[in-house]
Amino acid sequence: MKSYLFSLCLVASTAAFGAEPQPLYLDGSQPVETRVEDLLSRLTLEEKISLVHADSKFSTAAIPRLGIPCRWMSDGPHGVREDVGPDTWAPAGHTDDFSTAMPAGICLAATWNPDLGFSEGEAIGQEARKRGKDIMLGPGVNILRTPLCGRNFEYLGEDPFLTSRMVVGYIRGAQSQDISSCVKHFALNNQEFDRGTINVEVDERTLHEIYLPAFKAAVQEAGVWSVMGAYNQFRGQHCCENNYLLNKILKDEWGFKGLVMTDWGGAHDTGEAVTNGLDLEMGTDKKYDDFYFAQPYLDGLKSGVYPMSGLDDKVRRNLRVMFATRVFDADRKPGSINTAAHETVARRVAEEGIVLLKNKNNLLPLNPEKIKTIAIIGENATRLQAHGGQSSEIKAFYEITPLAGILNRVDRQATVTYAMGYDAPAASPRSTRPKAAGEPFSAADLADRAVAAARAADVVIFIGGLNHDIGLDCESRDRKDMKLPYGQDELIQKIVAANPKTIVVLEGTMVEMDSWLDQVPAVLQAWYPGMEGGNALARVLFGDVDPSGKLPATFPRRLEDSPAHALNAYPGMNGTVTYSEGLLVGYRWFDAKSIEPLFPFGFGLSYTTFKYSNLKLVESDGGTNGAIVTAQFEIENTGAVAGAEVAQLYVHQDNPGVQRPEKELKGFRKVFLQPGEKQTVSIALAQNAFAFYNPDKKGWDAEKGRFKILVGGSSRDIVLQSSYSLAETVFEKD
Ligand code: BGC
Repeated sequence: MKSYLFSLCLVASTAAFGAEPQPLYLDGSQPVETRVEDLLSRLTLEEKISLVHADSKFSTAAIPRLGIPCRWMSDGPHGVREDVGPDTWAPAGHTDDFSTAMPAGICLAATWNPDLGFSEGEAIGQEARKRGKDIMLGPGVNILRTPLCGRNFEYLGEDPFLTSRMVVGYIRGAQSQDISSCVKHFALNNQEFDRGTINVEVDERTLHEIYLPAFKAAVQEAGVWSVMGAYNQFRGQHCCENNYLLNKILKDEWGFKGLVMTDWGGAHDTGEAVTNGLDLEMGTDKKYDDFYFAQPYLDGLKSGVYPMSGLDDKVRRNLRVMFATRVFDADRKPGSINTAAHETVARRVAEEGIVLLKNKNNLLPLNPEKIKTIAIIGENATRLQAHGGQSSEIKAFYEITPLAGILNRVDRQATVTYAMGYDAPAASPRSTRPKAAGEPFSAADLADRAVAAARAADVVIFIGGLNHDIGLDCESRDRKDMKLPYGQDELIQKIVAANPKTIVVLEGTMVEMDSWLDQVPAVLQAWYPGMEGGNALARVLFGDVDPSGKLPATFPRRLEDSPAHALNAYPGMNGTVTYSEGLLVGYRWFDAKSIEPLFPFGFGLSYTTFKYSNLKLVESDGGTNGAIVTAQFEIENTGAVAGAEVAQLYVHQDNPGVQRPEKELKGFRKVFLQPGEKQTVSIALAQNAFAFYNPDKKGWDAEKGRFKILVGGSSRDIVLQSSYSLAETVFEKD
């Protein structure tokens, strides 16, 4: 099938125009809009219709007579997914669809390094081009509202500002490679439970302050060319056919000029989709000709039910994305795949995203010269994770597991033993773990062997956590609770009793740790660190690199501490989930209710120490980047090794006229420092850093009065503070 499709594309790109002068749309020196109008004017009604719906799982049809090639889409967002189809979800069985598996989105967010976001996007963009893709289905930027959401691992955490900064870097990098990113899922897809039907109710302020900023930044700052609607409903209307979200906010208010596509199967009604802002229908469970935007739309256009101008607008948007990504241009970037440079990006994202949560008595980093025996325990030490989680899974070019990474690093300087410790029964057919000969062992047998291995070793590295099986960190379902599965809590306690020098490494998203955290000296949160993850982890464990990741989401001590669960506002009742916590998502809730989290938002330790000093506020006139005030302070590496610190700036309003969160992240900077080195950090704040969304005025109000500028190494470690006053209330339209 693949060769057939490719030959069609070849035919397409060599369309002949005889003696005619070169049509305007093929002239790369013409402005995009001129090319769009010229090509639009040459299309028949049927050809236009063919551009607004799929003709396979991940493509739209070619129009050979005009040289329009088929358009290929691919998931996203952690690399270029293996090919499926064309008409089924079964893998196509290609041998050339291995690609670089980047760490999961939550790990990228934990780097707090937008430049790395750019590098990751750029690498994925290059791989997409090499694989012949035009639109990459990512990044995913839905806010982490509940720890249980099955797709939290794909997204960028709980904070709208952090999410926005990371997404802009990623999209700019990806789109620099002549492909379109497709930011998803617009909007409010914050749970997988009943994702296709659940109706979300949220107030206007919360919508604008918490759930929309990353999408807005993707559109207005990164210039994203495609947006994917969400499966769920918002205020009673499906998000892929939601007039308020798509027409009003995205297109009218934000000025989005690209295309809106459905999530796969996200369209429900031709009329709604036609009028409410959808431009491209994908993945409907029907024959392609029966898609809502195929024959039914064509019939409605012919009979005058739908205006031709509406179709032209959709086609224009589709064509605009094609021209913007240089589909018709001979010098479109060709891309590259599985390069050493891409591997380096994957490893760096993992190294900078792994978070050191605890390090009592500096047990870490390990010194291989002083250790004779290391016991590695845990099923995740050998589990391949990249090809899991559903749509974001990657057929990795290779994958260094934690065990392999540690073995590579130790390089026979110490004896390494391995015990699985617990069994993770394959709950999903996609589970990749091969069974060992003689399995299944009993849980007691596995635990006994692990304890014996722990007792015999100088140091234990337990590598557990979650995986991508359905019901854990996996699309289409949420977790049932926030507990470690497979009896790991009990096992960790037994292991640490046998050997107190136990380091716990957790893969996956957040879990409760109360039952063993006090007894364990060192804990690392490794997320899903991608195909270079094992090497990255080993480099962190042995101190080749300083851990510099910071949590992009609050880790609650127990599920009931987090807002949606405390308020019983998850997973909804009678088909509707009401976000009754409003603005108090993540740390905003923990601050407001004075709840001690297990680990706070922005937290992460290092092998060195940093001293913050000399906070100064320098006022300006809003000229440069709209900055009205710039916070300047110094950070010094006061320890013995090189390291990186993420300095965070939060804003607090004194005596606000409306409810304001206790503090909100409005700036951050990752600083790399040699021992003894000191740097001055400047973080500029625009008017918007002080503003709240005023639904009556449909814009942002920054109230006259005093604000505190809070600077520190986490949301609960503020070490510098100063005050800033706004003399007048100022308003900015959305
Ligand atoms: C997911 C999307 C994905 C699409 C195509 C859907 O199930 O929600 O994120 O891009 O499938 O695989």
